[in-house]
Amino acid sequence: MLNYSLSNLLPDLPAFWPEPSHDELTRFEKIPTEIMDDAASASLYVAHEIAALIRRKQREGKSCLVGLATGNTPVRVYAELVRLHREENLSFSNVITFNLDEYYPMQPDSLQSYRRFMHEHLFQHIDIKPENIHIPDGTLLPETIQSFCKGYDQAINEAGGIDLQILGIGRTGHIGFNEPGSGSASPTRLITLDHLTRTDAASDFYGEDFVPLKAITMGVGTILKSKRILLMAWGENKAAIIRKAVEGPLTDQVPTSWLQQHPNTQIILDRAAAADLTRIKTPWVTGNVIWTDRLIRKAVLWLCNKTGKAILKLTDRDYLDNGMSELITLEGSSNKVNIKVFNDLQHTITGWPGGKPDADDSTRPERALPFPKKVLVFSPHPDDDVISMGGTLARLAQQGHEVHTAYQTSGSIAVFDDDVIRYLDFVDQFSEITGMKDAGNQVTNNMKDLIYNREPGQADAEHVLRLKASIRRGEASAACRYVGIPSDNIHFLDLPFYETGKVVKKPLSELDIERVTTLLRQVRPNQIYAAGDLSDPHGTHRVCLDAVLIAINQIADEPWMKDCRIWLYRGAWQEWDLDQVEMAVPLSPEEVITKRKAIFKHQSQKDRPLFPGHDSREFWQRAEDRNHATAMAYDKLGMAEYQAIEVFVKYQPHS
Ligand code: F6R
Repeated sequence: MLNYSLSNLLPDLPAFWPEPSHDELTRFEKIPTEIMDDAASASLYVAHEIAALIRRKQREGKSCLVGLATGNTPVRVYAELVRLHREENLSFSNVITFNLDEYYPMQPDSLQSYRRFMHEHLFQHIDIKPENIHIPDGTLLPETIQSFCKGYDQAINEAGGIDLQILGIGRTGHIGFNEPGSGSASPTRLITLDHLTRTDAASDFYGEDFVPLKAITMGVGTILKSKRILLMAWGENKAAIIRKAVEGPLTDQVPTSWLQQHPNTQIILDRAAAADLTRIKTPWVTGNVIWTDRLIRKAVLWLCNKTGKAILKLTDRDYLDNGMSELITLEGSSNKVNIKVFNDLQHTITGWPGGKPDADDSTRPERALPFPKKVLVFSPHPDDDVISMGGTLARLAQQGHEVHTAYQTSGSIAVFDDDVIRYLDFVDQFSEITGMKDAGNQVTNNMKDLIYNREPGQADAEHVLRLKASIRRGEASAACRYVGIPSDNIHFLDLPFYETGKVVKKPLSELDIERVTTLLRQVRPNQIYAAGDLSDPHGTHRVCLDAVLIAINQIADEPWMKDCRIWLYRGAWQEWDLDQVEMAVPLSPEEVITKRKAIFKHQSQKDRPLFPGHDSREFWQRAEDRNHATAMAYDKLGMAEYQAIEVFVKYQPHS
């Protein structure tokens, strides 16, 4: 179904002339690393290597020991193995598996149990013998854990050692749950989870407080004894730790770096997770790169950052000292390169995100006509629009455009029970005032019972979820009213993929896409805005982007669609790199306040977001800090000094 290209949103794979040898290209990398276009094709590659090994061992009449990981990363690997079993007769009868880890304590049937995960994603769909499955036990008595762990390592040894171990990587640099501090010889053991790991797991447990403090993990020493290791990482939020693990020093502070000592490890990345590797981030250091305009901008901004200079102050010397002399030869002088990049960046800035009527638009990001434009803003959750582009939204409305907002999901699971109780108390009082006390109380008491009787870590009842969704609808409508969007132009799509009431969502289906295409055909926008978050292929933002892009692709041939521009903003967690930005909308100090107040309308998300990630700031603070940082970055490069800037990248459907 994913028949669209994300090419222009991903870091470029640079081209070289002459082509450097593989060794030259990867000379900063201490572990063999393969970069694939996307997580889907990379997952197939890994699944097929596993399948080939299983088949080879079968032909040799031997058993095959596979070490397995859980988490988001290997999900598509397991899906492909299941497909190979169903459609291509891959048998798992000779396979013995050892899983990396399990939370402690953890009941096997609990929603978050890795045992349950493995059964749901793989074991219940294949012909593996139950006695061949090994997963650390989260129900052990504390005094038996040590001997269990010893036995686990022994069982691996006695079965002949792991033939192929697959791994993901945590943002702490953990493999398995070997957190920073884990030595290279560490055995299987009970470990205390890092704070960052627990915050990353918070959404799976409906809140950080419910994430266990400990886990049983296969040790680094055990992992390193595997004959072959494949480590996978997808998405830009893994890019920084991947660079440390692959190019950094060997250190127990980044346990994945121990893989540098293993003779047969391969790291498999998608383009986003590879973004910080030297050959992608600063390719001119690794060979004779072919300079595209996009790469020139990237290199010059990198040089400004390194030297602390504004663009127009860079000298020949700066270029020469940093391996970029070729660029001067190509353009004639450093000054010419500087001016080229300066103008390029200058032209991204506009106070007219919908285009400026009656103005020359040859160097503006958006065309002047038609004016006014019909604008459709997609927001994955009910507050992403104002958090990420609240200033631009208000400007579009103020400048006379017909602005619509489409809330893709209800956001119901991110509402605290307390908030629902507060609304129910209000309904009680309302019933009393209006003389409907008995009937009203019965309904609210039922609802309160559903909330109070829910076990920690379990999903909400449907009625409660619907109430939570309506709380968020009211907030989104209030924010729209505040920035000047009429209520007729507010659309709640409630995409079905999201409505499971759990953190784990359903896959995107035609039903989701149809809701998006129907709205697109109804509004026929000249401009679309959507959240361009590529991280975490299973995250809601990414699925919502998929829904918009698949829908756009399906109706791309309709004449009105040909005249539609698509702009992507980034959600609450990350910002576009400046070398990618194509439109930058400055905000005045007053507009920053307007944006803040629009975000405040989302009261249920205000005091402490339910899924805060690793950042303890509130959403409005993060948004302001981020927009201010962008403005400072422009200022430092020598552009005008603004209070804040919101930035966008244009999506090219056919790139
Ligand atoms: C899972 C495991 C962990 C994960 C890592 C990445 O069994 O041992 O090391 O591989 O935390 O998690 P995801 O894949 O969810 O990003």
